[in-house]
Amino acid sequence: MLGLSAFIPFILSTYLAQQTTSLTLKLPSRDIRTGTGPEQYDPTIPVAGIAPTQLDRAGWTVTADSFQPGCEPRNVLDGTGGSWWETEFNPTLSPLPHNIVIDMKNSHVINGFRMLPRQDGPSGNIGQHTIETSLDGTSWTQVASGTYANNQARKTTLFQSRPARYIRLTAKSTAEGRGYPYVTVGEINVLSGPDPTLPRDNWKVTADSENPLPNQHRALEATDGASTTYWSTQFDGATRGFPHTFTIDQGSAKAVSGLTYLGPPTSRGRIGQYTIEKSTDGTTWTPVVSGNWTDDAKPKSTEFGVVTVQYIRLTALSEAGNRGTITAASEINLLDGSRQATDFTVTVDSEEVTNATEDGSAINALDGDPATFWITKWNNIQVSPGYPHFFKIDMQASYAVRGLSYLPRQTPGNMQGNIGQHLIETSADGSSWTAVARGTWEDDTQRKVVNWRDVQARYLRLTALTEAGNRGPWAAAAEIQPIIQSTFLTPSPESAGQWGETINFPLIPVAAALIPSTSEVVVWSAWNADTFSDGNGRTVTATYNPSSGIVTQSIVTNTGHDMFCPGISLTASGLIVVAGGTNSEKTSVYHPDSRSWSSGMNLIIPRGYNSQATLSGGGVFTIGGSWSGQLGGKNGEYYDPVANTWSLRPGCPVAPIITKDAEGVFRADNHAWLFARQNNSVFQAGPSKNMNWFTTDGQGSTTPAGTRGNDNDAMNGNAIMYDALAGKILTIGGAPSYINSYTTSNAHIITLGAPNTTPNVTTIGSAHYARTFHNSVVLPDGKVLIVGGVNYATLFSDDTSILYPELFNPATNSFTVMAPMSIPRNYHSVAILLADGTVFTGGGGLCGVGCAANHYDAQIFRPPYLFNPDQTPATRPKILSTNPAKQIPLGSGITVTMDSPVNRFSLVRFGSSTHSVNTDQRRVPLASITGGGNMYQVLVPKDPGVLVPGPWMLFAINTQGVPSVAVTVNIQ
Ligand SMILES: *[C@@H]1O[C@H](CO)[C@@H](O)[C@H](O)[C@H]1NC(C)=O
Ligand SMILES: *[C@@H]1O[C@H](CO)[C@@H](O)[C@H](O)[C@H]1NC(C)=O
Ligand SMILES: *[C@@H]1O[C@H](CO)[C@@H](O)[C@H](O)[C@H]1NC(C)=O
Repeated sequence: MLGLSAFIPFILSTYLAQQTTSLTLKLPSRDIRTGTGPEQYDPTIPVAGIAPTQLDRAGWTVTADSFQPGCEPRNVLDGTGGSWWETEFNPTLSPLPHNIVIDMKNSHVINGFRMLPRQDGPSGNIGQHTIETSLDGTSWTQVASGTYANNQARKTTLFQSRPARYIRLTAKSTAEGRGYPYVTVGEINVLSGPDPTLPRDNWKVTADSENPLPNQHRALEATDGASTTYWSTQFDGATRGFPHTFTIDQGSAKAVSGLTYLGPPTSRGRIGQYTIEKSTDGTTWTPVVSGNWTDDAKPKSTEFGVVTVQYIRLTALSEAGNRGTITAASEINLLDGSRQATDFTVTVDSEEVTNATEDGSAINALDGDPATFWITKWNNIQVSPGYPHFFKIDMQASYAVRGLSYLPRQTPGNMQGNIGQHLIETSADGSSWTAVARGTWEDDTQRKVVNWRDVQARYLRLTALTEAGNRGPWAAAAEIQPIIQSTFLTPSPESAGQWGETINFPLIPVAAALIPSTSEVVVWSAWNADTFSDGNGRTVTATYNPSSGIVTQSIVTNTGHDMFCPGISLTASGLIVVAGGTNSEKTSVYHPDSRSWSSGMNLIIPRGYNSQATLSGGGVFTIGGSWSGQLGGKNGEYYDPVANTWSLRPGCPVAPIITKDAEGVFRADNHAWLFARQNNSVFQAGPSKNMNWFTTDGQGSTTPAGTRGNDNDAMNGNAIMYDALAGKILTIGGAPSYINSYTTSNAHIITLGAPNTTPNVTTIGSAHYARTFHNSVVLPDGKVLIVGGVNYATLFSDDTSILYPELFNPATNSFTVMAPMSIPRNYHSVAILLADGTVFTGGGGLCGVGCAANHYDAQIFRPPYLFNPDQTPATRPKILSTNPAKQIPLGSGITVTMDSPVNRFSLVRFGSSTHSVNTDQRRVPLASITGGGNMYQVLVPKDPGVLVPGPWMLFAINTQGVPSVAVTVNIQ
């Protein structure tokens, strides 16, 4: 016995507390394991109750009593059995016993230990062993002991759930039966999950017959948690015939939903036909269920509707293999009816089940075991169906479901069936479906976690639309698991806006630009989908089409430019100029018409984290950027997009825009807030507390423009020109230093006058949340959406995420809290206005494989103006035509024909976003006169310092404040 009673109440309360707080990954039951004690099972036998899952091992450390250099203990956490921990054998042979200790760094409620032997052959396989857990690394409790078989198969040991931070495997012998005492281990995992069996501590068990040998094969040996000991009816001398009974007195009435049975270690005595009965007094029995167990070594489980009783009796009526009249049992357990989780079931369009050696059943993707997988039919090519494929989960009850995790098949060297393009939908009734996420997954073996807005649903359907590597018509999954919330959040009213579907990308969208000709979004990360370090001259990009929802990946190599952390600006002719970044001297130009990238001239001063702005004359100005290239001296440069040349502007030194960042110049000249104004001038509003004017003609010049009210340096804050006609800029948030810094909710309105004059700065009531690394987007009506960010400036952490966006209203200079996001958007996130008046918000992370702050997705926010007061979607006014249609000269008029009356028009410039900077976006309200019959004469300002040449979105807004979908006009 394990002496479990001391910790059981604690475990249950800890466990239940967990159940009611954080996100719960609920898993279905498939086969029922036996025993709350230390049974081990062969991985070829399907065992697992409500399948426990392997804990994420990020940050864990390992120590061992001994190791051979080159075979360090940490190898057991590296994901492959091809590298291993080995105890020292040279120059000194270290003697048995050996132990290895995993420190999980935090306490987890765990219930299993999984050990993969060294995979290159039997060398150092462990035999006898114990498994112990500890909360403090000092005081240990044994949870299992036994002998591992001498083979290379994965070994799993389950035990009663208990809280632990440390787990220790002690090897007492080698399995190979030789005297040479070194041992090896390939991989170690720790399992956690609901525990479906009832504790047996207070049980009294009796049988109609026990073997009379002293202390052997007594009834209680079927409840001692050891599969090597077993109860047997008398077999020497007078054996008795059937029936045999095994009676459990639980001590008090408990909810029971099933019984599990593991036969004896040898086949003789296996139960065949059986009945299970219940009783409240141990005298009067009522049948519950009866049946026949098959004659094999697999654990057996019989589930029934929950009964609440003190006594349960198992009666054996036959021996499964007719080997005589003895009945025996290694382990008998009752299933816990009070915490019973209903099985999830799955329906698929196709599954490979014809080949016994290649079990590709759909249920494999719900069993919590990454080693088994679902695959659509492939064995017989004639019946292999093509895409699309679907995987539909029926959770049997309604849950607050907010995500799904997809683990591609974990078969090294074989990724056939990895899902690329996909759609995820939920349903309450199994017939009417709502899309919650769609997109394209990267073609690798990493787990993909998709979160979406909270939805109440019973059914979940993943539709696979393409194979990620175009390898063939199959779809496969090691695991597809719903992410369920224990409590359903009350949805926010539509007056607080609404979050739409999640869009999955095969990369982390760290930069984004709206493509003028197609209104698609081009996004990119770095040389890699989720890492920026060690850039190698290529960029992983993708395009998202808002109309079709399709995400298309494209890797750009022809410009030799890793475009992580550049300056971005949209030229007068609608090209996207990307300069600097990881390849700090490079310039790349995106051509929307051909969807291709070409090289621009190299920068004269290599840089990264520079900002740039398109000027009133159509050129581009850039400044700052000590993140890459040499530190300091990142003075202004001017790009002529027609001649494709950069030239220095020595009159525009970087010194006046430097912040007092704790990390010095490396950070101090980053991410300037630049606004083009008249005569090729640029106003720099921050993030330094000092503001400046630059002129860029000739050698250039600099004029100080005062300070931003009471604001300090506000690195990674935002500045948004929400009314370019009135020269109005909102500045919001940021932090004095890039990292390890408090943040502010400071908000100011800067009103620009003529270039080189000091603007007026108004300090307005602060925003609701202090944040940095957020993004802000000006909407067609002049309001500004502030979204994402953290409360304390820390890179690659979602710890202090601000999930609530705010909407700034320029009419009242006030902020309103909007509906919360379901996905944090922090460092390396983006946001831009789409042509339909919604806001694309994505990314965050880029901190390497497995980093928890990585977000390979985006979500669309629908602002409140898209809803009626009764929460229904508002009818949008529609622009039927404009005259001129596309090319609009500055200072001219546009005749706009609408389908319904409107009372306002505005132009919003196409945006681009990275590192909290969007110098392209700005809004210009337009004067208009009614021409009758829903025709309007709209007047376009003639000042290119207000209306910077290039593509703009023309919006019409009705008296309810509802905007039209924009039409693209080209202002020249
Ligand atoms: C179990 O097997 C016996 C003997 O073959 C048969 O009579 C009985 O109907 C079976 N019971 C069930 C529930 O299948
Ligand atoms: C079953 O699949 C295995 C593994 O791919 C293959 O080697 C074997 O030929 C298949 N068997 C049959 C009967 O098709
Ligand atoms: C700044 O404020 C002063 C005083 O109210 C006003 O005269 C001036 O026009 C303002 N400047 C701008 C650029 O709005």
